[in-house]
Amino acid sequence: MTMKSPSRREVLLASLLLPLNASTLATPSGTGKTLVAYFSRTGNTRVLACQIHRARGATLFEIQPAVPYPEDYEETVAQARRERDSGYEPTLQARVVGMADYATVFLGFPIWGQTAPPVIRSFLSSHDLAGKTLIPFITHGGYGLGSSLAVLAAHAPQARLLATELSMEADQERQTLNRVTEWLQRVPLTQ
Ligand SMILES: Cc1cc2nc3c(=O)[nH]c(=O)nc-3n(C[C@H](O)[C@H](O)[C@H](O)COP(=O)(O)O)c2cc1C
Repeated sequence: MTMKSPSRREVLLASLLLPLNASTLATPSGTGKTLVAYFSRTGNTRVLACQIHRARGATLFEIQPAVPYPEDYEETVAQARRERDSGYEPTLQARVVGMADYATVFLGFPIWGQTAPPVIRSFLSSHDLAGKTLIPFITHGGYGLGSSLAVLAAHAPQARLLATELSMEADQERQTLNRVTEWLQRVPLTQ
């Protein structure tokens, strides 16, 4: 089979598409210089994390506790409050392999009880972030960042914490649950 040489139009089209392909293909499987580490219970922060991951061709790492939080929202709120007040740092399900390879760490989480979730303190305590640039991205239900940035500074004192953090108000699980509960009261049990 003979290969036809590309026309000028095809060459032009290919060069226009190249930047897009290059950034898509740049997504590494674990050796990139930029890491996006995030914790997310209901998915709001995950959307941000995936966008940063795609835009920067960065490695994506989901921070998870070894023992998952309860499915029930109120139980989770109560547990998170106890863990915050006692300074408890839950064991992580996994640590980042080869953290030394990363120069930049985007760190994403929701605000829990006016601060960073306990598992974020665990993450910071169990990885050496000295000399790395730490860039927070945070979602909250409307009450702001609380003490979360101070917690990051205290738990990663040798990281270069960028002041250009992203902070976004996002849906609250409590409101979503109330809305569904109220709606279900209007939906008949049987047809
Ligand atoms: C246990 C718990 C505690 C929360 N505490 C706060 C809070 O103190 N202030 C606030 O604005 N939002 C609070 N929220 C709402 C979340 O920060 C917000 O919905 C966030 O976008 C959830 O992100 P996620 O979907 O990535 O888990 C809390 C949510 C949970 C589950």
